[in-house]
Amino acid sequence: MKIARLFLALFVVAAFGFSACGGENTEGTDNAAADSTMAMEAAPSMEAQIGPVTELELGAYDAVLAATGEAAFTAKCTACHGLDAKVIGPALGGVLDRRSPVYVINMILNPTGMLESHPDAQAMLAEYAVPMVPLGIEEAEARAIVEFLRGEG
Ligand code: HEC
Repeated sequence: MKIARLFLALFVVAAFGFSACGGENTEGTDNAAADSTMAMEAAPSMEAQIGPVTELELGAYDAVLAATGEAAFTAKCTACHGLDAKVIGPALGGVLDRRSPVYVINMILNPTGMLESHPDAQAMLAEYAVPMVPLGIEEAEARAIVEFLRGEG
């Protein structure tokens, strides 16, 4: 009789133990679900996935950098872009109000990749009929142009 009770007690402890484990597992699954939701929220934007630039935090406005960017813009972009009027491509004044900094810098550095894969760039191509071409611009120069465009919003 005593032995039977001992078994019963062991059984209860074991059953309780399992259900407790089960509880933990469920919690674990909830956490995993929450993690994947967070991962989805933090998923890189389409333009970041296309690259080459994946992140671009614009800090305080840098007027010296913008002046370098203006010179580059005048030399390399004005054949096709104005700030206020369409030329061969869209007007770029205020472009950072409608596009992310990563979008703009990747359009400068990798227009072919952007036009192949980014729906917004593709919509532009449909409107302008001419693809923007790779211009062999270095990342530092492209960054300066972004700073210039930022001041022209
Ligand atoms: C040969 C003409 C040409 C030159 C040169 C050119 N672009 Fe473009 N650009 C275009 C065209 C056309 C588009 C519209 C999308 C398309 O068809 O590719 C465009 C699109 C863009 C866009 C995307 C605008 C948007 O709203 O999505 C940005 C940003 C841009 N160009 C920046 C520049 C910069 C900066 C330069 C100079 C470094 C430059 N482009 C030089 C023709 C040009």
